[in-house]
Amino acid sequence: MTAPYLSLAPLVAWRGLPRPLDWPALFGRSAPLELEIGCGNGEVLVRRALARPGLNLVGLDEDWLSARRSLRRINLAGAANVRLLQAEAGLALERLFAPESLGRAACFFPRPWPRPREAGRRLLNRRFLRLLGSRLAPGGSLRVLTDAVAYAQWVLEQAAGSGFTARARRVPPGLDSKYERKWQGQGQQEFYELTLEKTEHLTWPNPEEPRLHYPRLESFDPARLAPFEDWGPISVLCKDVLYDPAQGRALLRMVVLEEGLEQSFYLEVLPEADGHLLRPAPGCGLLPSLGVQRALKVAAARLQGE
Ligand SMILES: C[S@@+](CC[C@H](N)C(=O)[O-])C[C@H]1O[C@@H](n2cnc3c(N)ncnc32)[C@H](O)[C@@H]1O
Repeated sequence: MTAPYLSLAPLVAWRGLPRPLDWPALFGRSAPLELEIGCGNGEVLVRRALARPGLNLVGLDEDWLSARRSLRRINLAGAANVRLLQAEAGLALERLFAPESLGRAACFFPRPWPRPREAGRRLLNRRFLRLLGSRLAPGGSLRVLTDAVAYAQWVLEQAAGSGFTARARRVPPGLDSKYERKWQGQGQQEFYELTLEKTEHLTWPNPEEPRLHYPRLESFDPARLAPFEDWGPISVLCKDVLYDPAQGRALLRMVVLEEGLEQSFYLEVLPEADGHLLRPAPGCGLLPSLGVQRALKVAAARLQGE
């Protein structure tokens, strides 16, 4: 059965808001701001919100099903001091939080990606820790719990040079989260707690979001519509194309990879009185970036046979 709908209100519609976000305005008050990264079903988040009503708590998870479960929990508990972000953690920290705006952060049972060939997927790498450190106020800290000793060791290594001083200790179960219960159910009775204290501020400004320039196409020949790949420091991939001969309009499905950001979106070719305009399709929710600007330039050149 479909889960009953309560309210979307705790969910922050961040794509339509000025960035970095104005957290006091979103909570309707100023209070110490805390972040739980990968909050899963939201049970730890909601328990903390109820226990500490003086905090403004943000839960972050990239997965919609997790966000949906958290939303339901927040609403059922009537926790007014929680907001939820459905976003990738690196993107959220870089763009949605101003430097030195967070008091504390936590990350419970991040996926350890144990195989060496999967190491690139581990979340708490040096780059991420550096970014997170820049968003913490002086004296801020990150608390991590993990079931995997090798991952704990790896995070300690990653903390070197990230602006944190890190320590680890063995702890008994005590968080009572879904993943802690999962490992306990498989017989694990000891976990690893990492405390990373910010000891140095390494600057990392919020990225500027450029005002996009939409190219005008002097000539547009639909025969040139075809997927393409342009690899480089900013990679622009056109995965698919659609063309409507009746309206003379085309749609390009794009993927752009740039430092710390991967975006999928659509560009459209729009007939105008004096030629064609290439622009992001309305409503496709992209973040203006150098990569998007490059995608417009590269696609325009391809479409004009340059
Ligand atoms: C293993 S689960 C742990 C959930 C919860 N903390 C617990 O202890 O039960 C990891 C969670 O992190 C989220 N996650 C993983 N990588 C993420 C990322 N890069 N950005 C945001 N969320 C992420 C996943 O969607 C998932 O909900």
